[in-house]
Amino acid sequence: MGISALQTRLQATLPMARIEPVALPGCEHISLALINADFPTGPLPGDVMHQVLANPAYWCLCWGSGAALAQLLLQEPQWVQGKSVVDLGSGSGIAGIAAALAGASSVLACDTDPDARLASATNAELNGVDIQISATLPQRCDIVLMADVLYDKQNLPLLGLAQQHASEVLVADTRITVLPDPDYRELTTINALTFPNLGEFDEFTTAHIFHWQARLPRISATQPIEDDV
Ligand SMILES: C[S@@+](CC[C@H](N)C(=O)[O-])C[C@H]1O[C@@H](n2cnc3c(N)ncnc32)[C@H](O)[C@@H]1O
Repeated sequence: MGISALQTRLQATLPMARIEPVALPGCEHISLALINADFPTGPLPGDVMHQVLANPAYWCLCWGSGAALAQLLLQEPQWVQGKSVVDLGSGSGIAGIAAALAGASSVLACDTDPDARLASATNAELNGVDIQISATLPQRCDIVLMADVLYDKQNLPLLGLAQQHASEVLVADTRITVLPDPDYRELTTINALTFPNLGEFDEFTTAHIFHWQARLPRISATQPIEDDV
């Protein structure tokens, strides 16, 4: 049901494309419903290209940054285990699905694109994980994940917005090597390709992973400690 609805949405801009569930290379125990892997990567007819640019179906690909963040969460589940997680700019839902599989207490996939919300819900079901879906951030959560959301410089304020809603933020990005906020510390880099493969330049196949954590309020050593009365 979800897969055929996704295919209808995709064919509104790419009439010759199909949606197929595939095991994700590098995270084989995650399956995602994505554009057919043999879809030609050559130039599209002008009118189709116009439609694609006007309404890009980012959700029909698993971006390298999302794949890298999923690998990190599955290898180091302590990042999300027992935590309430928001996957901001969820697209296919890859990062949120990995968080759920890694033991998050709850996962919310948040995306402004209604088709991406359908893709996240469909892919969560495909992987047997329970994920809530929303167009907006919740009041509070433990950790926000952002994979390949900073492709548009206008999205940079999302770094600050995430900090207002969470105690921790993990950002994965193949195009941005330095974040404007120095409180985001680079944790590691992970090589990952977008799937299906877009034939990206080598310089865009390394995801930089950044972490921000809220500072605990400092307690001064000289601060008087009041006795309980
Ligand atoms: C390149 S895709 C990345 C999807 C997924 N995280 C991945 O790594 O495969 C970026 C996604 O961010 C979403 N997005 C862009 N701006 C957003 C915003 N302000 N709030 C929420 N989602 C946003 C887009 O709709 C798109 O689904």
